[in-house]
Amino acid sequence: MTDLVPRAERRTARLILRRPTPGDIDALFAIHADPATNVFNAGGPMTGIEQAARRFRDWDHQWQGHGFGYWAVVEITDADGPVIGFAGIRYGGWRQRTVLNLYYRFTPSVWCRGFAAEAAREAVDLWAAGLTADPIVAYTTPDNVPSQRTALKAGLERRPDLDTHDGTGPATVFALGWE
Ligand SMILES: CC(C)(COP(=O)(O)OP(=O)(O)OC[C@H]1O[C@@H](n2cnc3c(N)ncnc32)[C@H](O)[C@@H]1OP(=O)(O)O)[C@@H](O)C(=O)NCCC(=O)NCCS
Repeated sequence: MTDLVPRAERRTARLILRRPTPGDIDALFAIHADPATNVFNAGGPMTGIEQAARRFRDWDHQWQGHGFGYWAVVEITDADGPVIGFAGIRYGGWRQRTVLNLYYRFTPSVWCRGFAAEAAREAVDLWAAGLTADPIVAYTTPDNVPSQRTALKAGLERRPDLDTHDGTGPATVFALGWE
C-alpha cells in the first residue's frame, strides 16, 4: 500500500525525472537496443520497437497502479532535448519477497557524469520518505562494476547474504530496509 503520493515529475540539481509517455518509446528503444548498454545483460539488446512499446506499457501499468515508477530522464539545461536515460523504482520480487527494484540505464554519451547516481539517489530518497515498508533492492551481475558503484552512490548497502547463484545466473545484491 502506498502511503505517500509522489509527484509525477521530480527535479534534482541537474535532471528532470518524469513519468514516461508513449512519445518516449523511441528513446526507450534506442537506449535499450544499444549493445553498449547491454554488455552485462544476459537477455541482450532489444531488437524491435514492439519490445520497447511492451516495456513502456509494463512500466505504465506500475505508474497507474501506484503513482510512481521508472522515470524518463532529461537534463534541466536541455529540458526540450532528448531523453538521456531511464531510472527509478518499481515493484518487483526478490527471494520470494516484494521489493522495490532500483533501475538505471543511460545513453553512453552521458556516462561518467554522475547522472545515474543522481537519479538513483532521488529514487532512494523517495523510498526513504515513507513510500512503502517494502525494501529497496538493486541487483547486478558480479562484473557490472558501473551498476554496483551506482547502487552504492545512491545509498544502498552491499548485501552478500541476499546474493543468488541459481540457474538464472549469479546476482550481486544491494539493498536498504531488508531486515
Ligand atoms: C550503470 C550506469 C547507469 C551508470 O551510469 P553513469 O551515469 O555512468 O553513472 P555515474 O556517472 O552516476 O557513476 C556512478 C558510479 O559508477 C562508476 N562508473 C561509471 N562507469 C564506470 C565504468 N565504466 N567503470 C567503472 N566504474 C564506472 C562511476 O565512477 C561512479 O562511481 P564512483 O564515483 O564511486 O567512481 C551506466 O553504466 C549504464 O547505463 N549501464 C548499462 C545499463 C546497466 O548496466 N544498468 C544496470 C542494470 S543492473
